Amino acid sequence: MYDDRVTLVDHPLVQHKLSILRDKDTSCKQFRELVREIALFEGYEAMRDLPLEPIDIETPIAPMTAYQIAGKKLVVVPILRAGLGLVDGILELMPAGRVGHLGMYRDEETHQPVAYFDKMPYDVSQRMVVVVDPMLATGGSAAAAIEYLRGRGVEGTIKLVVLVSAPEGIERVLASDPDVHIYTAAIDDGLNENAYIVPGLGDAGDRIFGTK
Ligand code: PRP
Ligand code: URA
Repeated sequence: MYDDRVTLVDHPLVQHKLSILRDKDTSCKQFRELVREIALFEGYEAMRDLPLEPIDIETPIAPMTAYQIAGKKLVVVPILRAGLGLVDGILELMPAGRVGHLGMYRDEETHQPVAYFDKMPYDVSQRMVVVVDPMLATGGSAAAAIEYLRGRGVEGTIKLVVLVSAPEGIERVLASDPDVHIYTAAIDDGLNENAYIVPGLGDAGDRIFGTK
């Protein structure tokens, strides 16, 4: 494996769902549902180190000291458009979480990310940030998103939750920031001449939104 900053979420249920997701004959409706479900499994892993604080409660039997999540709730940051597909899965785990949108598309010729929109919670720098995007291909979009968030004052570990990664993208993101942790359900073979992941699952945004 790469490094301890990469977690491969390869639970059998995730692998099963991912296989259906990759199939070119899977419908738009099912694709969208599966993206949400896999995001939930990966989000569970990404939130494993959330800080806890003690809280005194009373069960029907006795008083006890229990634990609750401490501090401000996280911000989930989808990279538009395709990242939107993962937001509901993460929010299901953390319903009080905030959402910061980051609009970015890949130029078809250069494959470089082009930023076109951003709207963050005012206190994003005080919250744990989980960036979501189904595809980590060249890593340009994710690296640009992380750079943007550092510019907004985000400190500490930024979690990046993706479904399918290319090794090139993982390397690029890890090299771009010393404190990023990648959660991915698969690490594929590489990129083709159009910088699409092989075997991948095609164009995630088009498959989520039915735009092709
Ligand atoms: C896709 C994907 C990532 C990016 C990955 O978005 O959702 O954001 O490409 O590629 P990279 O790692 O090489 O940067 P796309 O630009 O197709 O936009 P969309 O979400 O609007 O479809
Ligand atoms: N964007 C996608 O949607 N799919 C890829 O394989 C690469 C970038």
